[in-house]
Amino acid sequence: MDRNGWVCRSSCVSLVVGLLGCSAPPQDESNVGRANQALLGDPVGGVDAALLTEAKAAFQNVETINDGVGPIFNERSCGGCHANGALGGAGENIERRFGRFVNGLFDPLASSGGSLRQLFSLGNFNNPNLPAASQGRCQPGNPSLCCVASDVNPSQATVRDVGRLTTPLFGLGLVDAMPDSFFDALAAQEPASIRGVVNRVPVVLPNPGDPTQSVNSTRVGRFGWKAGVPNLLQFSADAYLNEMGISTQSCFQGTSILAFAVENAPNAPGGSSLEGCDDLAPAQSAENVAAGIPRTTDDAVGPCGASRTEIQDDVFLFAAFMTTLAPPARDLSDQTAITRGEPLFTSAGCAGCHVTVAFRTPANPFPVDIGDGSETARVPGNFVFHPYSDFLKHDMGSLGDQIGNAGDSLAVTRQMRTAPLWGLRFRNHLLHDGRATDVPTAIRAHAGQGAAARDAFNRLSTTDQHNLVQFVRSL
Ligand code: HEC
Ligand code: HEC
Repeated sequence: MDRNGWVCRSSCVSLVVGLLGCSAPPQDESNVGRANQALLGDPVGGVDAALLTEAKAAFQNVETINDGVGPIFNERSCGGCHANGALGGAGENIERRFGRFVNGLFDPLASSGGSLRQLFSLGNFNNPNLPAASQGRCQPGNPSLCCVASDVNPSQATVRDVGRLTTPLFGLGLVDAMPDSFFDALAAQEPASIRGVVNRVPVVLPNPGDPTQSVNSTRVGRFGWKAGVPNLLQFSADAYLNEMGISTQSCFQGTSILAFAVENAPNAPGGSSLEGCDDLAPAQSAENVAAGIPRTTDDAVGPCGASRTEIQDDVFLFAAFMTTLAPPARDLSDQTAITRGEPLFTSAGCAGCHVTVAFRTPANPFPVDIGDGSETARVPGNFVFHPYSDFLKHDMGSLGDQIGNAGDSLAVTRQMRTAPLWGLRFRNHLLHDGRATDVPTAIRAHAGQGAAARDAFNRLSTTDQHNLVQFVRSL
């Protein structure tokens, strides 16, 4: 968060993204044409330039210990990871998760900080405001030294160092705009042998712009390798906390949301961080603490007004930035191979999960909204796009990463979201742990519900395999 700059909830009343205004939805063809011409990272439709500048700056802003980075974290800006090809892209960063199975059920070792193992800690730093209780405990004679241990693989973890590659964000605002019923219909159409699971999850941080969302309502999870997150706003708060160590409170219709307000402590043996050593963001005021907000929360709005909806500013701006990202344009330069590869993609069974059907945003998509009408980002209505994913979870057998939520069976932890294939050619690592660097290797790792398509691919002639891969690389 930049405490000096672009946050202006009350003064930005005119900052409404006017995309297509209230006029009649444009024809599909014009939308498709525009998507095809877009450069990677371009905004989709006509976005309010001032909000886009502000949102983009927030997404790439490098945060510091003074802003609240830490005590443990993976990076210091969204853009530091999401950067391949353009801001918002995939990334080189491969995160690590751990867990274990007890009586066949997944245990994320919540007491050891949950399944994500943050890669960095603040280490040793001087903290002039260290409370008396912690003074001198890191180094006798130096009362202001903080020492934050690193997150480790807990000794009980039997599943460890599972990689999670950074995914690209292009076009995801369009996916956010799709109603649940669309995903239900996709699942219903799939052959029973490879039918995906619609992953309905509780909404923790609702988008105030969407009247169908409220705290603890359910929505189809569609984001992340496990389709575990229901909307871009929630992913933003989640990533701010879990990737960057910046904890935020939000308010939704008078309800205070603290799910992303609690700092992650390092799980080193003996090791929660010392009181006051979470980072150097100012402690919360006594008034906010009285309102239930942890003293260490890095940014909070305070007591929630009766009906006022407040989403912490940066979180909204991240979601606004992602909402504006256009899908990657196709690259049709290898025309002959692509034309031959397209039917093979379907006949080999790839399209059973990487569906070729057209997605179309609703006529009037709900905006991603801060809640008081002052700032809004909205994707165009009736916009047709092709992500080549059903966003459903499939049992991928040995490719599944065996990470899940508490109580998930082994079979559930093998389920992965069908990875969208659009923009694949801008990536240099593939699959959830980045193990593959080319498409054939990624295909050959498919197992479980993906095994039949993998085998069909392997049976193709070398030329046909090449054509199919060229089709995938054109998406
Ligand atoms: C340390 C690197 C890193 C940083 C920093 C980071 N991300 Fe990510 N991002 C990832 C990884 C890894 C994934 C895949 C996570 C998963 O599914 O387990 C991801 C996935 C996502 C997704 C889901 C995309 C999809 O394919 O469904 C969104 C949305 C997202 N990040 C937004 C953000 C925002 C907003 C920020 C800044 C607050 C951010 N990320 C910061 C690494 C990062
Ligand atoms: C049963 C559903 C299913 C079928 C059928 C299927 N896939 Fe996949 N595909 C997935 C899932 C799920 C993932 C993500 C797996 C992971 O990384 O754990 C994936 C990942 C991929 C990736 C890597 C994408 C990335 O972002 O890293 C490629 C490339 C791919 N599939 C191509 C194909 C092709 C080509 C076919 C046909 C030969 C095919 N898939 C058939 C479900 C399927």
